[in-house]
Amino acid sequence: MRGTLSPIDKAKYAAARRAADLVEDGMRVGLGTGSTAAWLVRCLGEMVREDGLKIRGVPTSSRTAALAREVGINVISLDEARWLDITIDGADEFDGNLNLIKGGGGALLQEKIVAAASDMMVVIADAGKEVGTLGAFPLPIEVIPFGWQTTQALVEETLISLDVLGRQTTLRMNGAKPFVTDEGNYILDLHLQRIGNPRQMALVINQMPGVVENGLFIDICDLVCIGHGDGRVEMR
Ligand code: 5RP
Repeated sequence: MRGTLSPIDKAKYAAARRAADLVEDGMRVGLGTGSTAAWLVRCLGEMVREDGLKIRGVPTSSRTAALAREVGINVISLDEARWLDITIDGADEFDGNLNLIKGGGGALLQEKIVAAASDMMVVIADAGKEVGTLGAFPLPIEVIPFGWQTTQALVEETLISLDVLGRQTTLRMNGAKPFVTDEGNYILDLHLQRIGNPRQMALVINQMPGVVENGLFIDICDLVCIGHGDGRVEMR
């Protein structure tokens, strides 16, 4: 099956395969969400089934939990693990400082909690996710459903004071209904084009009532495995 992969899937697989080699017997492993992280979970499942690797996995979404169980990984909750040796996850964008935009798959809240509770966070990504400046990918903001339009207006008004190009937000949809996260919240996607000061942006957004979390991961990622379509992997 891997022989018929598109170049982008080959790149994602290559990055995931390399990161899986960082996982050792006995580790508690945070399992990310998304198509790249799904390759990682499949790789780890293979290592569990075929090489007898013994790990406990903490998934960052219900989707990842289902896949992890399906491939034979021992799934535990974050509170059972308390602390993780490593978390491996995808990203929507990463910059030269290894700051990230995440949440394209809507799992940013659990992803950030799990990554922050880990000794090491490794991002796996195809080369197209690397950017000079974060922000071309719309920034996901998780908000509680109560008063979400008021929160949306507050976000847009507050951004007037910051040096940003755009400030339009759109409610993420799932067909005709709002997309609902695993925590029962909504996602506003903020279209900025460019985030000059991601640290400031993350702090300002998280101070607004109604906002639960945003998809900027600042100083959380330790290493990025960048996969290429020809199977090469670079480490940053
Ligand atoms: C999910 C995420 C994903 O890691 C991110 O969207 C990248 O996904 P993919 O590997 O499918 O490109 O943050 O919330």
